[in-house]
Amino acid sequence: MDVMPFLDLDVDGRSGLVGPSQKEAEDYLSFRCLGTGVFNFLITLKPTSEGQDDVVVGKLGSYRWPYVGYLMHPDHAGKGYATEALRAWIPEFWKHMPSPSEGKPGFDYIEAMTDGENYGSGNVLMKSGFTLFGKQEKGFNSPTLGLRDTNVYRIARPGTKLEESGKVDYGKADPGFVPRLIEPEAHT
Ligand SMILES: CC(C)(COP(=O)(O)OP(=O)(O)OC[C@H]1O[C@@H](n2cnc3c(N)ncnc32)[C@H](O)[C@@H]1OP(=O)(O)O)[C@@H](O)C(=O)NCCC(=O)NCCS
Repeated sequence: MDVMPFLDLDVDGRSGLVGPSQKEAEDYLSFRCLGTGVFNFLITLKPTSEGQDDVVVGKLGSYRWPYVGYLMHPDHAGKGYATEALRAWIPEFWKHMPSPSEGKPGFDYIEAMTDGENYGSGNVLMKSGFTLFGKQEKGFNSPTLGLRDTNVYRIARPGTKLEESGKVDYGKADPGFVPRLIEPEAHT
């Protein structure tokens, strides 16, 4: 598996994969690239000439309905790429993820969770049509920052109402929770 584009993105372990090795990165990517719910993409620059190799600048997508997450390489942040990619991804995800009204398991909303102080990520979501839907206080134990508040954003499927998408209820916050490779990622 070519994990290099991903490892290059994982500056300072920002994916949550602290100290990635080839093996860890392969496990991490296998977990996030296989299965019916997976709808994950690398973000590349538009080629400027024919035959040019892809320049990977970020990743964006979902490995578990109805969640979305993304990560940009810092050299390419602040240029609108995350917003551009998310706006392009959302209509495709509506086609990929069924609506419960079709009688299949699925969702009429997409959800993203950000750190309470990740203003850049919040802006990406708001500029893409998401609404700040709820907050969870001190529910995430960051390996580097300690207990953190989480903002929960949602966007409704066209033709449905966000108010009907259900409450944000993650149960009792678990301050002992630290994400591990084998567990579904709790944060984008
Ligand atoms: C957050 C992140 C995805 C933003 O990607 P990006 O490509 O820089 O975002 P955009 O350029 O599309 O910016 C969207 C908006 O957010 C604003 N923004 C970006 N970084 C910001 C920051 N640190 N503080 C405040 N606003 C910020 C931009 O100014 C822009 O608004 P504008 O167009 O009105 O100026 C990127 O910085 C990143 O990968 N960070 C580390 C990983 C991470 O936080 N992932 C998301 C976890 S929830």
